[in-house]
Amino acid sequence: MHIHIVGARPNFMKAAPVVAALREQDAPPMLVHTGQHYDAAMSDIFFDQLGLPEPDRNLGVGSGSHARQTAALMLALEELFLETSPERVVVYGDINSTLAAAVVASKLHIPTAHVEAGLRSFDRQMPEEVNRVVTDALSDLHFTTSPEAEDHLVREGIAGDGIHFVGNPMIDTLLRFRDVLDTEGAKSHFELPDRYAVATLHRPSNVDDRESAANVVESLRRVADEVPILLPLHPRGRGVLEEQGLLKVPSLRVVEPIGYLEFIALVSSATLVLTDSGGIQEETTVLGIPCLTLRENTERPITVSMGTNRLVGNDPDEVELAAKEFLDDPPRGRIPPLWDGRAGERIGSVLRSAGA
Ligand code: UD1
Repeated sequence: MHIHIVGARPNFMKAAPVVAALREQDAPPMLVHTGQHYDAAMSDIFFDQLGLPEPDRNLGVGSGSHARQTAALMLALEELFLETSPERVVVYGDINSTLAAAVVASKLHIPTAHVEAGLRSFDRQMPEEVNRVVTDALSDLHFTTSPEAEDHLVREGIAGDGIHFVGNPMIDTLLRFRDVLDTEGAKSHFELPDRYAVATLHRPSNVDDRESAANVVESLRRVADEVPILLPLHPRGRGVLEEQGLLKVPSLRVVEPIGYLEFIALVSSATLVLTDSGGIQEETTVLGIPCLTLRENTERPITVSMGTNRLVGNDPDEVELAAKEFLDDPPRGRIPPLWDGRAGERIGSVLRSAGA
């Protein structure tokens, strides 16, 4: 039996096509939700919209500092693995649940597969970078979304025969829903005009300290002078951003986190996206929507070299300039190789031959 571990919002879109492929191939895995994200708007709505089966277990771990959350995840996962003796554990992305599962499985000698392996921002200040490096070091099967990922893994001493370039399962989910999105419904729900921008923010580098948050709020203020912005706001950092005047920016509307289908519908007809998320850089590339990433680096450079993404950091002058350029002359991108909607199927086949 194989156990697939998910824990937070972006994991759900990545796991959905893999779990669906395995169910179609008559090898349904056990699905475990760690409970790292627990609000209905951060978790349940994704299971409903993506048709993910109800998890077989929810470990209810919740929030905490990195050490507390990771320790709680490890305790709960060790108990689960001892009780269920899986033949393999499959982990997704770069969140604390991913790291915790890989560490626990490895010490119990359970082989681990990492979906979205080999991405590197080369910025160890990012908690996710630490999670990526450790998870990859401990996994024996590596599923990559982008050609450069294999080079990163090989340079870190990881054996090439476990590396499989399979494409991007998050894009499988996007392509599955792309043609049935209710864009007009979502736009009218938020009373958006024809030209609008969508923003998201949650990275510690933007929302954890006052100076960065002040820069971000000023950046949004300047862009909102050009085009109205809708910002569905992650709970993390809301307090600091509000302290810096987020709610007083004209033409910027802050709303609660929204479901996957509404979000993608809004992005698909946006004039501009501003984000510090990883996945949204990829989704805008496939949708051909100009994306300004409010970070100094990205673990997804193909979205810049081939797609419609540009890194701008959070300096208001830089953001304003780049926004004007993108509004005047939107970038034209291409779709990265194998982002074709079949990654889940490919991952499923490799897992089947590894005994799923
Ligand atoms: C986590 C991931 C990040 C991913 C993001 C997607 C890590 C280290 N980070 O960041 O890579 O991009 O998820 O959203 O794993 N909270 C709620 N309700 C929830 C979940 C969280 O209110 O359902 C609040 C809590 O105040 C919590 C804070 O958000 O302390 C941070 O949650 P956490 O899961 O620790 O990290 P994220 O910032 O969500």
